[in-house]
Amino acid sequence: MKNTVMTFKEAKKNGEKLTMLTAYDYSTAKIVDECGINSILVGDSLGMVMLGYEDTLSVTMDDMIHHTKAVAKGAKNALIVGDMPFMSYNTGIRDAVINAGRFMSEGRANCVKLEGGKEICDVIEKIVEAKIPVCAHIGLTPQAVNAFGGFKVQGKNMDSAKKLIKDALAVQKAGAFAVVLECVPSELASKITDMLDIPTIGIGAGPGCDGQVLVNQDMLGLYDDFTPKFVRKFANTGDVMREGIKSYIEAVSDGSFPEEKHCFKIDPEIIKNL
Ligand code: KIV
Ligand code: NA
Repeated sequence: MKNTVMTFKEAKKNGEKLTMLTAYDYSTAKIVDECGINSILVGDSLGMVMLGYEDTLSVTMDDMIHHTKAVAKGAKNALIVGDMPFMSYNTGIRDAVINAGRFMSEGRANCVKLEGGKEICDVIEKIVEAKIPVCAHIGLTPQAVNAFGGFKVQGKNMDSAKKLIKDALAVQKAGAFAVVLECVPSELASKITDMLDIPTIGIGAGPGCDGQVLVNQDMLGLYDDFTPKFVRKFANTGDVMREGIKSYIEAVSDGSFPEEKHCFKIDPEIIKNL
């Protein structure tokens, strides 16, 4: 069955955990979807794991639409979340609504995600008014890496813990249907989860959240430039790929590939008379 924002609402009410994973292309989205995930995030993390950038700041709207289209074609039942890239929603409400709309009409996402708390609530309100569901994202918001002075856990002291609670309540009030909590101490994330009516989706925010999200490449062992503390490697897909690729190179080199069954036939008479 297709997961919708109502699925998220019901899950929170019934205390059922929500699962979210990133994907950036058709064939991966198809696999993730077939496994029964609730939601696929086309994250701007694609800048790092797919495009090799150092951070997410260079990712453009066109990059995001390109990948969202592919994921939408591959996913049948997962709720597709389009991640609004840096500066696509910070330059004014009109820009934000137009760009959120592109995710829906061109990318065929089911909702958008954007980073920020109180300061971005007027934008969240207007996007929601346009009938585009919004997933908020607070705590460590990677697009703010330069403002933070690095990728750091958020909410560790009294002031920043209070700010995080305020942000969570504010994005809920603005109409967000869910909120991602990234790199937040577990007890604080649990407290926020208890305070909210909308589900919290944690990444580095402990087991108390209503759901969890991870970057596909991280949890499948496909990206090892940097592995955050909160990642569990659920499979060593990189090793499986390396083995397969080495076998291919070997088989081509020693002539054992391709075999008869991989080949197309032609009437030998034709070849003879060429
Ligand atoms: O871009 C991304 O993958 C994300 C998740 C880590 C929440 O924003
Ligand atoms: Na992101």
